Amino acid sequence: MKKISVLFVCLGNICRSPAAEAIFINLLENKGLTDGFIVDSAGTGSWHIGKKADSRMRIAAEKRDINILSRARQITSEDFEGFNYILAMDDSNFRNIQDLKNRTSSTDFASIKKIQNFRSVFNEQEVPDPYFGGDEGFDHVLDILEDSVSGFLKSIS
Ligand code: 4NP
Repeated sequence: MKKISVLFVCLGNICRSPAAEAIFINLLENKGLTDGFIVDSAGTGSWHIGKKADSRMRIAAEKRDINILSRARQITSEDFEGFNYILAMDDSNFRNIQDLKNRTSSTDFASIKKIQNFRSVFNEQEVPDPYFGGDEGFDHVLDILEDSVSGFLKSIS
């Protein structure tokens, strides 16, 4: 059976989208669905290419038994043809992804959506950027993402 491919995207690919990727991978493992999916994350920006996720986010995730293993990369035009779903963390990411797609000759293969479209517990329309804030911001991002990432999986199951 063909695998479903999912790319989570934020600005730097060191805080929110690596966390979303790891939460989704963890959820798939818990449900025995790992083999059916390809999961990745990327940033619209290039500053952190090759870096591990921010240590504050890795520590916050480890407390929930979630390991964030990814290295940062930038979204490319090929991603629009390689992934079934591209999930943006906020409105700015969403616009930047759409602009990039419009500047390339990519087809409309990927379905581009905001991850918060799939929220059920939290009201936030966007996943807030925790980078310049305190440690509690990282826990809040994880809370929000556990809700919306699981809502996304339900929406495609
Ligand atoms: P992310 O957070 O988009 O969730 O990875 C950020 C990380 C770094 C920067 C901005 C946001 N930065 O400006 O370097």
